[in-house]
Amino acid sequence: MRVIASYSMKGGVGKTATSVNLAYWAAKSGSKTLLIDLDSQGASSYYFRVRPSTKKWAKRFFKAYENLVTHIKASDFENLDVIPAHLSFRNFDSLLAGFKKRKNRLRRVLKGFDKEYDLVVLDCPPSISHLSESIFIASDVVLVPVIPTTLSERTFEQLMIFFKENDYPQNKIVPFFSMVQNQKSLHKETMRAMSARYKIFLKTAIPYSSDIEKMGIHKAPVDVFAKSKQANHAYRQLWEEVSKIECMAIRNLNS
Ligand SMILES: Nc1ncnc2c1ncn2[C@@H]1O[C@H](COP(=O)(O)OP(=O)(O)OP(=O)(O)O)[C@@H](O)[C@H]1O
Ligand SMILES: [Mg+2]
Repeated sequence: MRVIASYSMKGGVGKTATSVNLAYWAAKSGSKTLLIDLDSQGASSYYFRVRPSTKKWAKRFFKAYENLVTHIKASDFENLDVIPAHLSFRNFDSLLAGFKKRKNRLRRVLKGFDKEYDLVVLDCPPSISHLSESIFIASDVVLVPVIPTTLSERTFEQLMIFFKENDYPQNKIVPFFSMVQNQKSLHKETMRAMSARYKIFLKTAIPYSSDIEKMGIHKAPVDVFAKSKQANHAYRQLWEEVSKIECMAIRNLNS
């Protein structure tokens, strides 16, 4: 089982849109996928109509794990389950804070899903907190949407420094450009400079697109209502690229 976090300390950069579409494409390509909405505002679960899951394997060991398991919902899509942000997640951060070895706790909790799922996608809230540190430890890949502006460049640099200072493996960090407007020279110039400086950016960029905004109206991933649009192809390509890099990251971590 792999764990991918869609993470940025910045708000409104496309973390939720990425989680939803990536989880959708992963499931469609045959991976048993669990999307966990860790944002207490519950955005990613909003995009899927969820119904009670038929899973009967609930209630094992940890309380936090049990708490998660009992909230698993089936989506309308094969291979894709969702844990919606539940009110109790508001306390998830303080729950983690209350334990010794708290930073490993999410990782241990997620291990419980190992037999049922090939992939867990975490839709993260925009902050650096106990929860985000647990996320960095629990994840194989920390996928970071970066809007190509000067401010985002600084935020990304801060994340790299945070990983280095706290001895988290920097090779988990996988950035890509998000909400790209090619007609803006600032975007083009920032993308050129950042790609040259950090060789780790994915090739796929997600364009700024009204089709992605419309996810809120349709309450669905882009493929459901804008199949032939560029934004949809971009998310599909993003998944294809991530699924390959993910394997590389695992190999690196194990070697
Ligand atoms: N590529 C895009 N083009 C146009 N609009 C987008 C794009 N990606 C996301 N949006 C829109 O921008 C808003 C913020 O996106 P999203 O919720 O995915 O960001 P987020 O990083 O999860 O935000 P938060 O930090 O609040 O959780 C939403 O209204 C979404 O529909
Ligand atoms: Mg979000």
